Amino acid sequence: MNEDIFLKVDNYISNLLGQEDKALTDTIASLDNENIPQMSVSANLGKFLQVLMISCNAKRVLELGTLGGYSTIWMARALPENGKLISLEIDKRYADVAKKNIENAGLAQKVDIRVGKALDILPDLIAQNDEPFDFIFIDADKPPYTEYFDYAIKLSRPGTLIVCDNVVREGKILDENSQDEKVRGVQRLNESLKENKNVTATIMQTVGSKEHDGMVIAVVNRID
Ligand code: SAH
Ligand code: DHB
Ligand code: MG
Repeated sequence: MNEDIFLKVDNYISNLLGQEDKALTDTIASLDNENIPQMSVSANLGKFLQVLMISCNAKRVLELGTLGGYSTIWMARALPENGKLISLEIDKRYADVAKKNIENAGLAQKVDIRVGKALDILPDLIAQNDEPFDFIFIDADKPPYTEYFDYAIKLSRPGTLIVCDNVVREGKILDENSQDEKVRGVQRLNESLKENKNVTATIMQTVGSKEHDGMVIAVVNRID
């Protein structure tokens, strides 16, 4: 097994079931044009988010970490007519690029990008006491992933799906002495899930066009 076969199979799957249209390829191109790092999910993982959203009938979606709006576009496309997606982004320049990409995809009506630190905005969302979210995608900075997850539960109902990106990091999570703050952040979340009675959770490892990584997939059972 080598990485070449993972890339070839990823391309095989995306050619069959994860085709990008121009709005998505333009979004990826906009990152290079604007000097923004290429950290979007892959096409197949964008499709995977859609499958998960549709399986839980998601109408209200929360995303942490917008970047250029690539995952946002995949998810907003899986919303029903009256669906809404709120995406949090700390960097105003990234958020402005994402807004253009989302507009270009014809999804501006469904997507609300909020600029600021997720840890500042999440308490506001709780205070608003709106309807709970059906689906939450955590993909912002890694050190506070455990805190993000705890906020996500507070914004959920039983049955809400919470997905967290980049929790395997090429297997670096196996290193108990890692000094990498991103690795430590996701290790802390992964380990907390073992005792978390509010969710039924697993971690799916992923390979393909991006580096070996993984996603937490958790369904909320109860909220206490
Ligand atoms: N979900 C995107 C990729 C997100 S990359 C996609 O797949 O297309 C992570 C993003 O989180 C970056 O844009 C970064 O600026 C943002 N971010 C980092 N720290 C943050 C914070 N404290 N609050 C909100 N967003 C943050
Ligand atoms: C990083 C963040 C991401 O969301 C991602 O998908 C890949 C890498 C990072 O900060 O290293
Ligand atoms: Mg990510």
